Amino acid sequence: MRIDIVTIFPEFFASPLEESIVRRGRDRGLLDIRVHDLRGWTTDRHRVTDDAPYGGGAGMVMKPEPMFAAVEALKAEHPAATTVLLTPQGRVWNQALVREFGARPGFILLCGRYEGVDERVREALVDEEISIGDYVLTGGETAAMVLVETLARQVPGVVGQAESVARDSFFAGLLDYPHYTRPADFRGRAVPEVLLSGDHALIERWRRREALRQTLRKRPDLLAAADLSPEDLRLLAELRAADADGS
Ligand code: 6GU
Repeated sequence: MRIDIVTIFPEFFASPLEESIVRRGRDRGLLDIRVHDLRGWTTDRHRVTDDAPYGGGAGMVMKPEPMFAAVEALKAEHPAATTVLLTPQGRVWNQALVREFGARPGFILLCGRYEGVDERVREALVDEEISIGDYVLTGGETAAMVLVETLARQVPGVVGQAESVARDSFFAGLLDYPHYTRPADFRGRAVPEVLLSGDHALIERWRRREALRQTLRKRPDLLAAADLSPEDLRLLAELRAADADGS
């Protein structure tokens, strides 16, 4: 997967692209991530990328010319790329979108700044507008990094076996179950007995039940879209009954 990032803060990406899963994907040649300084596509002496809004008002608007030059140059190199504008007005990023976008060959991520981006950029260049949630960021850089990491995980070979298969598929759509490591008793708080039993079938059932319990308690909205078996539905009914009991 190739990802081109267009930003006026290229240094922002230096450290996160050198860490963890993204680093591994790049080292293995599975991810081709290139960060571009938008100012490189300006033509004036001061390399200006923003200007005052027509109609007046506070804040600055990102100029169309550098953005057009950037996308046209990058599209010429990688015509199959999806052009994404990171903006609070976009569709809200979630794991379903991650899976959908994760099958595409590449992306041009445009990081917006200031009060906005000239509307003609959106009209003529942008395939998808994405937000990472309902809160305000100063610019799209943090959001772009979220897309990079989540998309990287979709590329086969980037995430190790242990991390992906069992959890991302079987527990898709549910919150995680609780985890414990040694010691078995820490300051009077014991690890659940079942995890010490060595009975793997029993442990799997406990984990499934706990994942359902966490989701029911903390994010019941997720249950509607989760892939639930008849056994899951039975466990949920039991958990709901226990909650109603106050137990
Ligand atoms: Cl993608 N950009 C900005 N500026 N703010 C955001 C966002 C993006 N997603 C959530 N808030």
